[in-house]
Amino acid sequence: MSQATNQSWGGRFSEPTDAFVARFTASVNFDQRLARQDIQGSIAHATMLARVGVLTDEERDTIINGLTEIQGEIERGEFNWSIPLEDVHMNIEARLTDKIGITGKKLHTGRSRNDQVATDIRLFMRDEIDVIEVELIRLREGMIELADREADTIMPGFTHLQTAQPVTFGHHLLAWQEMLTRDHERLLDCRKRVNVMPLGAAALAGTTYPIDRHVTAELLGFDRPAENSLDAVSDRDFAIEFTSFASILLMHLSRMSEELVLWTSAQFDFIDLPDRFCTGSSIMPQKKNPDVPELVRGKTGRVYGHLMALLTLMKSQPLAYNKDNQEDKEPLFDAVDTVRDCLKAFADMVPAIEPKKDSMYDAARRGFSTATDLADYLVRKGVAFRDAHEIVGLSVAYGLKSKKDLSEMTLEELKQFSDIIEQDVFEVLTLEGSVAARNHIGGTAPDQVRAAASRAREALAVLKGDA
Ligand code: ARG
Repeated sequence: MSQATNQSWGGRFSEPTDAFVARFTASVNFDQRLARQDIQGSIAHATMLARVGVLTDEERDTIINGLTEIQGEIERGEFNWSIPLEDVHMNIEARLTDKIGITGKKLHTGRSRNDQVATDIRLFMRDEIDVIEVELIRLREGMIELADREADTIMPGFTHLQTAQPVTFGHHLLAWQEMLTRDHERLLDCRKRVNVMPLGAAALAGTTYPIDRHVTAELLGFDRPAENSLDAVSDRDFAIEFTSFASILLMHLSRMSEELVLWTSAQFDFIDLPDRFCTGSSIMPQKKNPDVPELVRGKTGRVYGHLMALLTLMKSQPLAYNKDNQEDKEPLFDAVDTVRDCLKAFADMVPAIEPKKDSMYDAARRGFSTATDLADYLVRKGVAFRDAHEIVGLSVAYGLKSKKDLSEMTLEELKQFSDIIEQDVFEVLTLEGSVAARNHIGGTAPDQVRAAASRAREALAVLKGDA
């Protein structure tokens, strides 16, 4: 095989590949990203072939040394990638043969690019999942710490984006944290199905050589060899599962971003983001824009797109391998990069969020956020809930007219609506009383938030395996 023309199938062909077709069908421009895993897989394959007697030990060593040198060439940027050689697999194999001669041609014994590429992507995904998990853990830890610190900080809670009831900022952050817990579980679940080895399936039906797939699987750290050779070369479910994990994660990060963007606005004024996460405007000198969360929100779209691309890529493929599958890589690579960057941005940014506590508190005081507490107070004094709802509704209408929050009214003013109301009502009308009263598992009371934060910390430690 020379660097200029791909002759790996040359025997059957009577004319060379059309120049445009060579470019159109080549994947080396993007799949060279799999080089490290390709070499890792080839080393394991050669090791196994020697173990079962298909290669001699000398041949194995020559191959491994050649591949290790090629790895160095690639890392140093000295490797000459060739489009006529189509993909990362044939580029590396051709270079190996250049270097070590005939022995290089023996590496592909009992193997096909179909099981090779499926193995490479799984090794790649496993590596990337592990890197992504580290960032996700860092984000979750930062979020739990901030929540614990802000367990007493009161802010308005919203439904329909209208002030509903007071909550604690810590409670809000732990709601985000719950979303990320599920994402973390999904990621680890996806990893289980990534970590299965296609190698040995060869083109589609297996191979006539006396291979030992358990040896290769163990050398590569796979949990087991794939059960069925046809499925092994054609299954891309793991890629769909990963982009599905990624889409749900980005959906969550996008929701968080949306809140951060709202909260930094002058209208909400709930938080400050340090300058290093923001940029200015070239025309409006007063502007400080929350670009990082905005961009995370924006990047969500492309990840959804990759999920749809992969689902559509697979939807009508007959067994087993089809060239269509070459299209799995770019969506997957971009999804991996986007997830990693967005998680890094969030893991750096979340611990640096500066809550503006007074402003949050004032916002919670406006908007009658303790109206439900007044209704519950009346119910405790024997009023039926529907009647209590009506009484409080009238009090709120009065408050809107007189521009007074419920806690700012005098006892006489409140008594116009029900003479059951006594001095002790003011204990429930305060924001502190309101949040402290929701004192059960899952509630917003500061003590509950602290307890939830410590449970979250323990659960995360268990998931990390260092409990
Ligand atoms: N570049 C191909 C891919 O990405 C490798 C497998 C090619 N196999 C084949 N029979 N043409 O899927």
